[in-house]
Amino acid sequence: MKASLSLALLSATSALAAKASLSGVERVTNLPFQSNKFIVEVSEASEIPSKRALGTPHEQLYRALAKRKISFNVHTEYDVPGIFVGASITLNNTQDVANILSTDGVLAIRPVRTFARPVPVLSKKVSPGDPGLPDSESTHIITGVDKLHARGITGKGVKIGILDTGTDYTHPFLGGGFGPGFKVAGGFDLVGDDYDGSNAPVPDDDPLDQCAGHGTHVAGIIGANPGNPFNISGVAYDATIYSYRIFGCTGSVNDDVIVDGLLRGVKDGMDILTMSLGGSDGWTEGTASVVSSRISASGKIVTIAAGNEGASGSWFSSGPGNGIDAISVASSDNTVVPLQSVTVQGVTHDPIVYFATFPLPVNGTLPLYVISNDTTIVDDACNPLPDSTPDLTAFVVLVRRGTCTFVTKLANIAAFGATTALIYDNGNGFDAIDVGDFNAALIQAEDGVFLAQQFAAGASISLTFPQSGGSVEFPLPSGGLISEFTTYGPTNDFYFKPAITAPGGSILSTFPIPLGTWALLSGTSMATPFLAGSSALLLAVKGKSASVATGARTLFQASALPISSSHTDGDPLQTATQQGAGLIQVYDALFGTTLLSRTELILNDTAHFAGPQKFTVKNAGKTAKTYTLSHVPAGTAITIGPDSILPGLGPVALSTDYASVSFNGGKFTLLPGQSHEVVATIKPPKGVDATTFPVYSGFIHVTSGTESVHATYLGLAASLKDKQVIDNTDFILGVPLPLVLDSEGNIQDAPVNYTFVGEDAPTILWRQAFGTPLLRLDLVSPNIALNGTLNARAPISFTNPHKGGSFAKVPTLGALLEVPYLTRNDEIDIPDNSLLLSNTFANGTIIPNGSYKVLLRSLRVTGDPTNEADYESWLSPVIGVTA
Ligand SMILES: *[C@@H]1O[C@H](CO)[C@@H](O)[C@H](O)[C@H]1NC(C)=O
Ligand SMILES: *[C@@H]1O[C@H](CO)[C@@H](O)[C@H](O)[C@H]1NC(C)=O
Ligand SMILES: *[C@@H]1O[C@H](CO)[C@@H](O)[C@H](O)[C@H]1NC(C)=O
Ligand SMILES: *[C@@H]1O[C@H](CO)[C@@H](O)[C@H](O)[C@H]1NC(C)=O
Ligand SMILES: *[C@@H]1O[C@H](CO)[C@@H](O)[C@H](O)[C@H]1NC(C)=O
Ligand SMILES: *[C@@H]1O[C@H](CO)[C@@H](O)[C@H](O)[C@H]1NC(C)=O
Ligand SMILES: *[C@@H]1O[C@H](CO)[C@@H](O)[C@H](O)[C@H]1NC(C)=O
Ligand SMILES: *[C@@H]1O[C@H](CO)[C@@H](O)[C@H](O)[C@H]1NC(C)=O
Ligand SMILES: *[C@@H]1O[C@H](CO)[C@@H](O)[C@H](O)[C@H]1NC(C)=O
Repeated sequence: MKASLSLALLSATSALAAKASLSGVERVTNLPFQSNKFIVEVSEASEIPSKRALGTPHEQLYRALAKRKISFNVHTEYDVPGIFVGASITLNNTQDVANILSTDGVLAIRPVRTFARPVPVLSKKVSPGDPGLPDSESTHIITGVDKLHARGITGKGVKIGILDTGTDYTHPFLGGGFGPGFKVAGGFDLVGDDYDGSNAPVPDDDPLDQCAGHGTHVAGIIGANPGNPFNISGVAYDATIYSYRIFGCTGSVNDDVIVDGLLRGVKDGMDILTMSLGGSDGWTEGTASVVSSRISASGKIVTIAAGNEGASGSWFSSGPGNGIDAISVASSDNTVVPLQSVTVQGVTHDPIVYFATFPLPVNGTLPLYVISNDTTIVDDACNPLPDSTPDLTAFVVLVRRGTCTFVTKLANIAAFGATTALIYDNGNGFDAIDVGDFNAALIQAEDGVFLAQQFAAGASISLTFPQSGGSVEFPLPSGGLISEFTTYGPTNDFYFKPAITAPGGSILSTFPIPLGTWALLSGTSMATPFLAGSSALLLAVKGKSASVATGARTLFQASALPISSSHTDGDPLQTATQQGAGLIQVYDALFGTTLLSRTELILNDTAHFAGPQKFTVKNAGKTAKTYTLSHVPAGTAITIGPDSILPGLGPVALSTDYASVSFNGGKFTLLPGQSHEVVATIKPPKGVDATTFPVYSGFIHVTSGTESVHATYLGLAASLKDKQVIDNTDFILGVPLPLVLDSEGNIQDAPVNYTFVGEDAPTILWRQAFGTPLLRLDLVSPNIALNGTLNARAPISFTNPHKGGSFAKVPTLGALLEVPYLTRNDEIDIPDNSLLLSNTFANGTIIPNGSYKVLLRSLRVTGDPTNEADYESWLSPVIGVTA
């Protein structure tokens, strides 16, 4: 994939300016797939005796391809009947895709997708004795894991396969060895150190990770042994871990390797597979998503990160976490954050907390100097300081936040020699701030005002920065809330992603010994193994049966704790599109005695509204219980605009236009073992603006005494078919899209002839304002009469042939590109979709000299692929081929 455009992220107030410049656009083909690598799925016909005589399904496939003169290379064979049988192949000509799909026994051919390596949101190495580490047990306490450990439930006998960067099993708290008898009892290195996603994997049988670290951190969240210097423990520290290394030291991974890792895990008898990885996808149809879902449906538990792309807004769900039956995991912020404090001399005051994880490296005790005695000044130190300012070298300098950047203020005081500063808040919020290399941190407003007033009153104040022992467990402003970075769903086909939340912000865990032994990381990558560990506790208590495994998501969702969108009273609960069913409560899930049959009540859009929702409540306890039903809505996610066709950036705006819910009786009594069917009639919110595509959600609680479980509903108060999918605005590049770039990179606005020699070729540039089930680029006659416009209302898997209907009646000369299930583009790192044309059709046939146009068609979500009217169309200017 090409590098992203030179990007200029502007503040919200300059949203009218273009976000990126056309000159930064590279003239290449840029789609989130490997250009000529595919995964072919074949039927398991070899199980039929008459067919078995013809050889394995793989042999039959290769023979059939050879017969059709298709030139290919095989990379990996997949052979787990019931889950996935097929192979990853490179094609000499992508033209052969259609040919392969029509081959006997071939079920599907899907492009190979690349997934970026998991990037933690926060990453700090720590060592024993470092001050200011979080109370690691806090994550166990808020989820009830501590109570399970206290009862001796630690995951013994359960096998968890981790697909990640490998594991440093030499770590003393990860068992100190590899192989039978050790904590990390097995696994495989599918790729080797040097694999980066663009080169060939070099497998070996040792999944040791001493160069990346991510997988070692994940392993510790599941399995770190207690008794360590930090007094932490894994969620299921007696479970057995298998480590499948699918990332090299750097770079990304392709889903052909992910599928290989998953299937190895199945063959090795894993009860649980966990993947802290993913990339924006939007659909449930990617190969790794499909395989993950099938493994889940077969009776294993698969936990997958929801993604760290919350800033990109709604409809950005991550693959393979989108796998329909997999458990996609959101992150919540730890309740406390470890901060540092400075002690005050000269006046009486408690140590003052400053926002830094580690102490500012300041020796000794320094006097305080205050730039302004006015504690309401709005632009303190925004301008060069007066000449009368003393030499500030030996002082801690106090400055008030506001007007200009922190770095500007610090540069102005540094001009007088200052090296250490505290900035006091002006009401914007106590948080981490960007101070460059400067020795500075934020303190709270009241502490700054106190210091400035005492200084103005003539007190002689000095400050000491303890290098140890100054750590404070500060209640995090966002503590307990859903981490802002968690990616929002739902999927474009309206599946419920993410499913559930686990702690993932500020998590201390093991790290490779050469990289520091311990580290503090944040991300849905950290929440995911928490769920895998919780799943191991479940299997340890309820048994490792397929029915327990397939019921795990429902059990965890029913007992989860819905989380608010903020700590302000009266604000709505966070949308289920970011928190799923809420924060996992493992103890309640394992020992609760009220069971729900369904916990995801998906209402879909208005055009496919799934009317009354039914689920069963079962009293699995030993006494009769009287239940009350109640409805608590979550904030309705305003997913698009307003006044825009693009998804709004995160944090996604919430409205209090709620759905209404009524029941077939709000109260009922069940004897032990009895069940009752609840019929919930859920009406979408009224009076909402459908052009903002409001996604409503909420919780239906079933309560008896102190026990409460819930089902979560999710619906769209609009029709997805009304959602524009092609971006025809000038919002991103300052010029309307789609467009053609000529060989110089200028916009082609008149007919141009191209020789297709060297650089002399056109590039089609477009962006998806929304995901599309099918994108198609065809060459057409320049005189085509076509009504297609962006009007009011896969590359290459031909799994959905669309031969008939008005779509096929549009006269085209041949296909240039077909992409199924393409995700939307993003405003954060400004990638676009582009196709650098060659003088051949997609099938490799040379395009004859002549004049043409390119017809781009993108199917709207839920549209009929055979109905031309369900596509948005765009016609290029005249492109002449003189090759
Ligand atoms: C691959 O395709 C090219 C161009 O279509 C052709 O010239 C070449 O012979 C093919 N290679 C093989 C191994 O079939
Ligand atoms: C370690 O954690 C346990 C359980 O939370 C606690 O009882 C104990 O005091 C902790 N020990 C130290 C040294 O922090
Ligand atoms: C603080 O003191 C230590 C030990 O004397 C010294 O190594 C370090 O460089 C000093 N740091 C600063 C910022 O002066
Ligand atoms: C602030 O008050 C102190 C103490 O009264 C005084 O020395 C100093 O000059 C004042 N600073 C300014 C900028 O007025
Ligand atoms: C929502 O409706 C669309 C259109 O019928 C369908 O394709 C999709 O699978 C539905 N989603 C769910 C989760 O059922
Ligand atoms: C493109 O080439 C054709 C055939 O040579 C010629 O008739 C036409 O004028 C050319 N168009 C442009 C814009 O140069
Ligand atoms: C284009 O639209 C006009 C007016 O709506 C209609 O009469 C005509 O049949 C349409 N043409 C095609 C090719 O669909
Ligand atoms: C490739 O596609 C073109 C345009 O549709 C068609 O004319 C040609 O016959 C196809 N070639 C092959 C080998 O299928
Ligand atoms: C296409 O046009 C170019 C430029 O005029 C010419 O060199 C080439 O021979 C033509 N190709 C064919 C197949 O006519």
